[in-house]
Amino acid sequence: MSKTKPIHAIVATDLYGTIGHGSKMPEWVIDDDFKMNFTPKTKEGGICIMGSITAMSLKGPLPKRICIAITTNPETAEHLHEKGFKIAQNPWEALAMAQKIPEGDTIWNIGGGKLYQWTRENVIVKELHVTRIQSTYKGEDEIKFCGYPVDQYTLDPSRSLYFKKRPAGTNGEKDKGNSDDAIVEVYVREY
Ligand SMILES: NC(=O)c1ccc[n+]([C@@H]2O[C@H](COP(=O)([O-])OP(=O)(O)OC[C@H]3O[C@@H](n4cnc5c(N)ncnc54)[C@H](OP(=O)(O)O)[C@@H]3O)[C@@H](O)[C@H]2O)c1
Repeated sequence: MSKTKPIHAIVATDLYGTIGHGSKMPEWVIDDDFKMNFTPKTKEGGICIMGSITAMSLKGPLPKRICIAITTNPETAEHLHEKGFKIAQNPWEALAMAQKIPEGDTIWNIGGGKLYQWTRENVIVKELHVTRIQSTYKGEDEIKFCGYPVDQYTLDPSRSLYFKKRPAGTNGEKDKGNSDDAIVEVYVREY
């Protein structure tokens, strides 16, 4: 029998829990987080689920990952399907699809605010990977991270990562640099 895939969540927030402004990410750039945290972890897990607002903000499905977008809107569904996303009408359907797909061994909830909130309330999120950007990004239509109940999670310090603020180009021409210091913390739910 195939193993049930665990659900993990991955998020980046500023010091006040801001994760977005309207449909856009805050204007931070943490290239190290993208290259050494988000991309390798989600590629290894293989499957990403996301709300429609987050999916619409991407150029297309993330390369080498199965991307399931959640939407109740038929036009949004058609548009995202044409771009290569798999479509689910609600988070339960997305999770059922993810479990059935032969590829991938972990389901990553990559946001946004509404999907983090839904998973917090409805399913067991086994691991929470939080990038804490050491600055504040104020703006209109702030979307905040809901947080997860700290008493149910244990920080695993051995898996923390530290990225220093540094200018673009430090690691070659395409390097975008880090606009701030950032710390990645991994919280594990024990039950
Ligand atoms: N900092 C980070 O790590 C990070 C990561 C991801 C996203 N973001 C940011 O977060 C913001 C988007 O978050 P958001 O909360 O506005 O939208 P979202 O969670 O990306 O998408 C919400 C949409 O998903 C669909 N949906 C249907 N049922 C749902 C359910 N039960 N739970 C969740 N979604 C459901 C709905 O689409 P329909 O209306 O089409 O039915 C809903 O309007 C953007 O600013 C984005 O850049 C930040």
